[in-house]
Parts: sequence; structure tokens; C-alpha cells
Amino acid sequence: MHIDIITCLPKLLESPFGDSILLRAQTKGLVEVNVHDLRGYSKDKHHKVDDYAFGGGAGMVLMMQPVVDCINALKEQREYDEIIYMSPDGEQFSQAIANELSLKGNIMILCGHYKGVDERIREHYITREISIGDYVLSGGELAAAVVSDAVIRLLPGVLGDETSALTDSFQDGLVAPPVYTRPANFEGIEVPDILLSGHEKKIEEWRFEQAVERTKKRRPDLFNSSK
Ligand code: ADE
Repeated sequence: MHIDIITCLPKLLESPFGDSILLRAQTKGLVEVNVHDLRGYSKDKHHKVDDYAFGGGAGMVLMMQPVVDCINALKEQREYDEIIYMSPDGEQFSQAIANELSLKGNIMILCGHYKGVDERIREHYITREISIGDYVLSGGELAAAVVSDAVIRLLPGVLGDETSALTDSFQDGLVAPPVYTRPANFEGIEVPDILLSGHEKKIEEWRFEQAVERTKKRRPDLFNSSK
């Protein structure tokens, strides 16, 4: 899979992709992530990428020229399954969308900034708009990192244990059951006996019951929608 991210703040994405699972996935060749600095595509002598909004009002708007030139340059290199714009008014990101995107080959992600991008880009170049939640971030970079992380960890071979992404919260419409590690008794606080029993089937049943109980209690919305 190729993920190309367009941003005017590339440094914001260095750390999320430069560590841990996302770094390993790239080193193993399971995904190629390229961050493209929008300023490098600006034809303005000061590398300007934004301008005032027509009609007035506070906040700058990302201009057509650098964004369109960058999108077109990338499109010349490969065909994209989705060109995503990160925006608080997009469709709400979910595990289902992460699953869907993980099956794609090439994804481009445009990060908005300031007041957003010229609407004509959204109308003519973007195939999908995604929000990571009902709150406004300073830009789309952190949201792009969230979406990329959720997608990349689903790619075959990225997680050591092939089954572990399947047992994540939300994959079966349930939140994850509680987990414990050594010691079994920490200053008198013990782990549930069942987990020490070695009885695989019973442990699996217990985990399922816990997941159901947790979902009912913490995410009744999820529980009711999966029935
Ligand atoms: N850009 C700013 N806020 C955002 C959000 N909540 N989701 C996606 N992109 C954003």
C-alpha cells in the first residue's frame, strides 16, 4: 500500500511515522508513506500556499494552485483508489472505514489548514472526506496520522500476531475485554482466577462475556446498533 500525505506542515508527521509499529511496517516494505510539503509546489516567490477568503472573514484558505499541482504530480506517478480530505465536516471515521481503506492499494490524503481549502478542490479532486470526531483540530495532520495508523496496523504482517488486529475493540462491534499481566497478585490486588486456570475455552467465554458487559455499560450505542 502507498499512502501519500499532502501537508504544509510536514514536520508534524515525522514522529507518528518515525516510530514503533508504523516505522516497522515501512521498514518491512508493507506500506510506503510519503509526506509531501505543499510549499514545494507553490509558484509564489515566497512559497505562499494560502490566501484570504473571497467575501472576507477571518482565516486563510489553501489555494488551488499548489494543491492541484501537487495532486496532479502524484496522480502522474500512480492511480489512487481514494483522495481523502481530512475535515471536521467529513464522514465520521470508524473501524469499518479503517477496514475498508486497508484493502485499497494507493491512498492520497490532503490535510487542511487554517480555514480549510478552496471549495473547488473538494468538489473536483477529492473522492472522500473524513473527520476523526466532532471537534476542530488546528489542521488535518494529526487526523491523517490517526487514520493512517488505524489502517496500517490492519495490513497483513504489520502486527506480529496475525490475530491481534482481529481481536481489537470494535472489530466485532464490542469493546475489548480487560487484560492483566504479571504479577498475579500485586500488593493484594489479584487478577481474576479464570485467567490463571489454563482452561482456554472457559477463558475465551469469560472474555466474551466481559466484552459484552463492558459494551453494554460503556458504549450502549454500539451495543444497540450491533443487535
Ligand atoms: N481537521 C480539523 N479538525 C479535524 C477533524 N476533527 N477531523 C479531521 N480533520 C480535521
